Amino acid sequence: MMRPLLVRTRLDLDATLAAHRAVQSTVALVPTMGALHAGHAELIRRARDEAAVVVVSIFVNPTQFGLGEDLDRYPRQLAADVALCAAGGVDVVFAPDVHAIYPEGPGRGISIDPGPDGRLLEGASRPTHFAGVLTVVTKLFALVRPQVAVFGEKDYQQLVLITRLARDLCLPIRVLGVPTVRAEDGLAVSSRNAYLDADGRTAAAVLSRALVAGQAQQRAGADAAGAAARQLLERETAVDIDYVAVTDRVLGPAPQTGEARLLVATRVGATRLIDNAALSLGG
Ligand code: PAF
Repeated sequence: MMRPLLVRTRLDLDATLAAHRAVQSTVALVPTMGALHAGHAELIRRARDEAAVVVVSIFVNPTQFGLGEDLDRYPRQLAADVALCAAGGVDVVFAPDVHAIYPEGPGRGISIDPGPDGRLLEGASRPTHFAGVLTVVTKLFALVRPQVAVFGEKDYQQLVLITRLARDLCLPIRVLGVPTVRAEDGLAVSSRNAYLDADGRTAAAVLSRALVAGQAQQRAGADAAGAAARQLLERETAVDIDYVAVTDRVLGPAPQTGEARLLVATRVGATRLIDNAALSLGG
């Protein structure tokens, strides 16, 4: 198995990608915060289908964590991450330090305003989150200059906002969403699942059951789908609901009929978990 090349600085990244750029190889970027798992492996697999060269970035981005969130305890495991990348056939792992991304320090330079939809749903509970995400993603796009960037549908609001970022800032990058990878009991695979104890882990499986319950009511419309999901979540006492929402595919008001999205956010103990599923509303 070929090991991917681990690069830590912007200069080394440029030097490494220069050869690929010279022969106009297509480059796909999979931005991550590390603690890689089966969900990331699937993003990497899709990226390999799309481009000759796959770059995975690993950077725990401080500006997307709010005060009191889990920045300090966020899992960091570079050696294991590089091994997963090697197994997935990744060409370059870019793992910069904070200074390379935020030369003046996190939160001190120019940042991207995610617009009104960045203040809904996740943004209502985490007001600075999406500005941090869009700012770091813009920097990673500028550094790597990929033709394709691959993100998971699990962070659905993030995916919608990054797609809009590329469109609104006229970036020549195709943003590709990849369906969520799930454990056998339906729980969406996430780095934050590592925080759950055994009881929390069992309780957390209710999120995906709630989505299935919502989908079972989709023909009856958005309210019925949302209510069915909420009812199931309310039955699980270890789970605190933050929101249950039905929107259109791009986070606008839910339509009467047609494609929509059911999104849920909860706390299981101290761990915030989100999930979502596609709906097809009406008859
Ligand atoms: O989804 C994530 O892991 C992060 O939000 C991202 C897109 C890598 C930006 O830090």
